[in-house]
Amino acid sequence: MRERPTRSDVTLKDLESPDWWRQAVVYQVYPRSFADSNGDGIGDLPGITSRVPYLRELGIDAVWLSPFYPSELADGGYDVADYRDVDPRLGTLDDFDTMAAALHDAGIKLIVDIVPNHTSDQHEWFQAALAAGPGSPERARYHFVEGKGPDGDQPPNDWQSHFGGGVWERVVEADGTPGQWYLHFFAREQPDLNWDNPEVRADFEKTLRFWSDRGVDGFRIDVAHYLTKDLREPFAPFSEVGLGENVEAHGHPFSDRDEVHDVYRAWRKVFDEYTPPRIAVAEAWVHRSRVARYASPEGLGQSFNFDLLLAEFDASEFRDVIQDSLELAAESGSSSTWVLSNHDVVRHATRYGLPAGSGRHAKDWVRSGGSPDDVDTERGDRRARAATLVLLALPGSTYLYQGEELGLHEVGDIPGDARQDPTYFRTGGAEFGRDGCRVPLPWTKDGPSFGFGSNGAHLPQPTWFGDYSAAAEEAAPCSMLSFYRAALALRETLQTDESLTWIEHPSPDVLAFERPNGWRSITNFGAVPVDMPDGEVLLASAPVDGSTLPGETTVWMR
Ligand code: GLC
Ligand code: CA
Repeated sequence: MRERPTRSDVTLKDLESPDWWRQAVVYQVYPRSFADSNGDGIGDLPGITSRVPYLRELGIDAVWLSPFYPSELADGGYDVADYRDVDPRLGTLDDFDTMAAALHDAGIKLIVDIVPNHTSDQHEWFQAALAAGPGSPERARYHFVEGKGPDGDQPPNDWQSHFGGGVWERVVEADGTPGQWYLHFFAREQPDLNWDNPEVRADFEKTLRFWSDRGVDGFRIDVAHYLTKDLREPFAPFSEVGLGENVEAHGHPFSDRDEVHDVYRAWRKVFDEYTPPRIAVAEAWVHRSRVARYASPEGLGQSFNFDLLLAEFDASEFRDVIQDSLELAAESGSSSTWVLSNHDVVRHATRYGLPAGSGRHAKDWVRSGGSPDDVDTERGDRRARAATLVLLALPGSTYLYQGEELGLHEVGDIPGDARQDPTYFRTGGAEFGRDGCRVPLPWTKDGPSFGFGSNGAHLPQPTWFGDYSAAAEEAAPCSMLSFYRAALALRETLQTDESLTWIEHPSPDVLAFERPNGWRSITNFGAVPVDMPDGEVLLASAPVDGSTLPGETTVWMR
């Protein structure tokens, strides 16, 4: 293994290219759980600024910041009360500018989250809509309709929300009588906006300019496939429409409708007002045949691809997903994205350490109480390292989620009274939700909240967190952190154009491919060692002796 090169001036220059995003390594910060600067238990923007040296040392190209806007936190900040301000618990606009400048000085781009499908019910528009009453222009920014039944006390239809329970909520009118119903595909504190309303469109363009003017380099678009809706009656029943996540053609009443691309074409014009153009990545859970529209250069430009996150640790599944994703990206002229973890799913080190059959996203395990005893952490870590090297060797951008570089595991067993995810409350505790991957990061081996802040953390951290702290791992040459740093630094010197050639191998458990300049990534997904191919080993996810490639191991060779 070679000594780790440091970030070069060349890289900083490359980041000025309009194509900087195509093969960027983007690190997702979930701000409330990253670093707390003032001891209130909540991570904040000055906390992020204080950790910029850590991010630089890690070797990432960009930070994607989950929402930091004023919010009542009904959905961890994805309920935005003001799109053009900072939550006072997280800091001020000045703090934002300081953070952005510190990141930029370190050669790190900044992507912020835009949540256009819904506002918070505390947003001034929603408050005005409640006050103004039926038929008002204020209500026309949302979807307010009359209920069914003689007294209007039945919801307009039986559609179900993502977090459990129906999508309609009845309001009490200003005179105290029960009134209209409004639409919310997520929590009831997240009313859906009416994207047929020009005022809504204009306001989001204003928001995009607001942050672009402050130096933000790009945007991650939350539930990008949901904005435009056809709510004309008769309504199709929920059994027919579902949540609309994999629909093959236009025509679903609220998901992936063709008109949504008018919105993104208009946004593209805004992005192109800037130099380099602002970038965007869509969170769009749509049928594969329709992904290219979101990723097109006239639209958002790139789209998340979650298939690797859903795949089993298996060579042929990985190969199929990679091949498919590369073809899809080529269709739109975009580059592919690769993701194993984010703030919505069970951390991948844990998923890989659970027995097969733990459910899609390991949801059955979470539902069963998420006991750490069920997790083979050694195996999870080993597979996580092997998979990480596959991702980082692929052409396209890799999105990392805070803490995965520490090998953090899911905290599956958070007690009910400490939980925050609306999923838990809206399902009456039947679903535990996503808090387990949002537990504040451990920075030191011990101390209050393991260095996250001076005074506790907003979600309880387990005792084992200290072993995964940045400080403990800094000191250990074989730690996950050292491994990520080495892999990112090496990738920077190896990554050139976006081509990939598959290499066939006699074992069905082996996934191997070559990138330009002879860079090869070879993974043995099976348990049994295979013959080691010839060449110089640049980096390995587990110790290799030169003659065999052990099970669940990736090597980069040349
Ligand atoms: C996206 C976010 C998720 C949020 C939801 C509603 O899926 O990733 O965290 O709850 O949108 O905004
Ligand atoms: Ca704080």
